[in-house]
Amino acid sequence: MDEQTTLLYVAAVAAREQAYAPYSSFKVGAALLDEGGTIHIGVNVENAAYGSTICAERTAICSAVAHGAGRLLAICVVTDVPAGRLSSPCGACCQVIAEFNPKLPLTLANLAGAVVTTSLDRIYTRPFTAAQLEEDNEQ
Ligand code: THU
Repeated sequence: MDEQTTLLYVAAVAAREQAYAPYSSFKVGAALLDEGGTIHIGVNVENAAYGSTICAERTAICSAVAHGAGRLLAICVVTDVPAGRLSSPCGACCQVIAEFNPKLPLTLANLAGAVVTTSLDRIYTRPFTAAQLEEDNEQ
């Protein structure tokens, strides 16, 4: 891992401890780097009304936006899946991330130290975009 990814991994691992996941016990931590060098963390926050749960990636995006982050440069997502396995962001999170940077470098990692760096456009190839809204409005 390069230095930047290591910083994001450490932040995501620490954030994950704060995840609120009493129903699934599947804790997720995310750390998002903005162009100013600030790291915005996120965790999954579950709810007794299961559908009201929000994933770690989206809470990180919400935090970044709330803090006035500029361009988003990279995200790291950490779960505790068994060694050698990794967990990808869900479709809703991919769509929300794509709104801000459809090619965001994406590091998937687990607590055992398995790490893969890819980018959002490789796992989520055709996001719905504002351009599509404009095209629809012209018809
Ligand atoms: N979850 C995330 O936070 N991020 C993902 O990428 C996948 C799933 C959460 C949602 C829920 O709290 C738990 O993991 C199990 O689905």
